[in-house]
Order: sequence, then C-alpha cells, then structure tokens
Amino acid sequence: MSQYVAAIDQGTTSTRCMIFDHSGRVVSVDQREHKQIFPQAGWVEHDPEEVWQNTREVCAGALAKRDLVTSDIAAVGITNQRETAVVWDRTTGKPVYNAIVWQDTRTDRIVDELAKNGGPDRYRARTGLPLATYFSGPKVKWILDNVDGAREKAEAGDLLFGNMDTWVLWNATGGPNGGLHYTDPTNASRTMLMDLDTLSWAEEHAADMGIPMSMLPEIRSSSEVYGNIRERGALGGLPVAGILGDQQAATFGQACLSPGEAKNTYGTGNFVLLNTGTEKVMSENGLLTTVCYKIGDNDPVYALEGSIAVTGSLVQWLRDNLGIIAAAPDIEPLARSVDDNGGAYFVPAFSGLFAPYWRSDARGAIVGLTRFVNKGHIARAVLEATAFQSREVIDAMNADSGVDLTSLKVDGGMVANELLMQFQADILGVPVIRPVVAETTALGAAYAAGLATGFWSGEDDIRNNWAQDKQWDPSMDEAHREKIFRTWKKAVTKTFDWVE
Ligand code: G3P
Repeated sequence: MSQYVAAIDQGTTSTRCMIFDHSGRVVSVDQREHKQIFPQAGWVEHDPEEVWQNTREVCAGALAKRDLVTSDIAAVGITNQRETAVVWDRTTGKPVYNAIVWQDTRTDRIVDELAKNGGPDRYRARTGLPLATYFSGPKVKWILDNVDGAREKAEAGDLLFGNMDTWVLWNATGGPNGGLHYTDPTNASRTMLMDLDTLSWAEEHAADMGIPMSMLPEIRSSSEVYGNIRERGALGGLPVAGILGDQQAATFGQACLSPGEAKNTYGTGNFVLLNTGTEKVMSENGLLTTVCYKIGDNDPVYALEGSIAVTGSLVQWLRDNLGIIAAAPDIEPLARSVDDNGGAYFVPAFSGLFAPYWRSDARGAIVGLTRFVNKGHIARAVLEATAFQSREVIDAMNADSGVDLTSLKVDGGMVANELLMQFQADILGVPVIRPVVAETTALGAAYAAGLATGFWSGEDDIRNNWAQDKQWDPSMDEAHREKIFRTWKKAVTKTFDWVE
C-alpha cells in the first residue's frame, strides 16, 4: 500500500517536488531555482524547457533523498505559478517563445486597446477580472502578434497554449506523444478567457484577442485522475490526479474549506483568498473573483482574491539589486536594528499596482526620506510594505463581504519572519495564525490528488490534519496604527501616473 502523495509545485522562482504522508507532514522535498530573465524594463520571462528539466530533476531528487520508490507514492498533484503563459509547437514540443511571467507588464498597450471598447471592466462580469497586464490572454496575444510565423501556425492548429500546470502535465504525460492538454478551472479562471459560471472558454474573448480556440487546453476539474505519467523517468506510471493554481492550492492546504475562511500566502507576491462557497461574489472594491477549487463533479467553490504583485521579491531585490543584505533572512536582524521605519515608506509598484488599485501606470517609490534614514529603516519599510499591502486588500475584502475577518491564517516563506508577523497582526488589529505545515501550496495539490484516488477520504481528513504552530496578537495602539496606515496610503498615491 502506497503511503505517500507527491506534489509538483512549479513556482515563480523555483520548482519543487514535495512528498507528504497521510497526516499531511512533509516526508521529502527537492527544489531547483530557474533563471529570471529580464530582457527589458517591465519584462519578466522564464525558459519553459529549463523549468521542465528542473521538474524532472526534483521529482527524482525527492524520491532519492528518502530512498523512496515510485510504488511508495499513490498519486501526484500539480500546483503552479498562475497566469504565466507558454505557447509551444504540438509536434516538436518546443516553445515558440519564453514563458511570459505573471509580473510582466509588456501587454499594457494591448490591455489599453482592449479597454477602449467597454472600459477596464469590460470582461469583469463574465471572468471576475479587471483588464490588467497580469492575466494570460493578452500575453498569448502578444506572442502571436510578435513572434515570426506564430499566428499562422496557431491558425493552422499547430500551437498549444498553457499556464505552467498545462506545460508540466503535457510534458509529464508524453509531450508530443499523447501528452494531455488539460487545465483546471482555478488556472483557467486567470486567463481572462474563462466564463466563471459555465467553467468553459468564453469564445468571444478569445476572438477579441485573436487566439484560436484550438490552442486552448480542455478544462477539467481540480481533482480527478487525468492520466498517468509516462513510464520512463521519475514518478513514471503514477496517476496525476490534482491540479490547482498555487494560491488556490494554499487555500485548500490551509483547510479554508468553508465560506468566510481566508488565508494570506507570503511568497514572491502576497495573495489573500477568501472562500465564498458556491456563491460567486463580485467585488466592488478592487478584488478578483476567481475559482477556488472544483472537486470532481461537485459544484465549483469560488473565492475573492486580493493579489499583491511584490512582497517577498522586494526582499530579493534588496539582496540582488542593492546588496544591502547577503541572504533573505538577514532582513529581520537588519530591520530590528532600528525602532521603526524612521519615516520611510517603500511602495514596490514594480509591476504597476495590483489589488485593490489595478494601476499599470504606477512604478515603485521610496518616500519620506531624510538624512536620518539608514539601511535598517529601509529594511523595516520593506517588511512593512508587505503588511500594509495585505491590510489594504483585507479592508477591501471586509467591505465586499460585509463581514470583518476575525483572524488570518498565514503561510509561505516570509511567515518565518517574526517581526513581520507581529507587525501584520498590529496593522490588521486581528490575530495572525501560522500552521505547523507552512508548505500549504504543495500540500493543497497533494490533497486534491489524494482525494481523487481515495488516499484521503474527504474534506474532514484535511480539516483534521490542520494544526496551529503559532499565533501573534495585535498590540499596537489603535491611533498609531491608523496614523501610519494613512501615511502608507498617501505614499501609494506618489507612485501613480508614472508611465505615460
Ligand atoms: O498569481 C501569481 C501567483 O500564482 C504566483 O505565486 O508563489 O509562485 O509567487 P508564487
């Protein structure tokens, strides 16, 4: 009897394979980073072939690290950075261009052009999304418009599109030799091409963007046996049985399975998702409406989402571009070397601003500088930016749902930062709770695969596996909290209208 479930987590900075036991504990993990390609300001690309190679290596690595064999694993789930778009040739398996990453802003002209007819909320009623550079559809249009011969090939039916889930699944299940060209509704709901009610492609949107329907993957559920991994290679022969976009996977892994439950993941960016049940809540405050998960034949569950483009990647920027810290965790002692931000506020609008503003004309700014400010203050301003941005989207969520969140479950890399967690509780005025297993993204994908194959029997197993590690309670005086939050909001306005 197989004792474990594996999850492939194809993220923005790295790809991991994690193996979990029945109690949801991590048994093994292997991870590889891939290159971040910045061809010009505002452009961000990944090499899909490098990512696929890394995927194969981490699957083999995760088994090898604990002397496991394929028969120890019951099923495989896939989770992924969402929106990042790959277009490839169905016969050769070669991408026609690098993957255009979710953070990339090159489609701003395309988006403006689309908004001329119907405004920025042209597709919102049907897709839950405002027109923004973030989503996949305009990225596919850019590739077809700009890569020599791509449009002709696409129209001849020779090209396929996928987000990273589809790219990994297609390659894992055979590539040009019968690879499955599927996605799930959580990923499809990020393309701007899927109807949220029917969970099928909105042909009119594809036509508006000049995307042939033959390029689009089939939308299946988030939890079912799609097919088996091709025999040769790591995990060969195992069923792939779960696909969830990474933020929805984290919501699932955090056991936010009832309406009103929410989580905040601290990764490259931050993503707050509130489960709204089978009801699709349309935001009036700058949030997205998205599919949270669809388990087999069950009705889809929806979520409200507050997407923040730059949080953890700002710490990386401090490390890689400014060299103020040598390693990401060094930010905490540096920030603790001062008592507060010294008046400095850092608004990291590197990809414009996502929720709740959706301003592609914004660019980053550090404001409030005086000669007093030192690198400790900047480190603190960097951490505070994550907490302030999270507060903005949670305020929007409270306004949309009419119910105030009473606590916040958190996960992701930055939740190891105790200073940030305390500041987050202070700036929200509610407790912040970290689970024992903070790797909820991979865990959520494992749950989806394990539910489809009977490894876990139902959602109660997931709820029972969830356990609290630590809680931070707010301790900041309310007048001070609101004063610094007001100053943050003023700082945000300084980033507007930067790109003409
Ligand atoms: O929408 C983008 C999100 O899915 C990326 O997540 O964790 O790979 O930065 P992450």
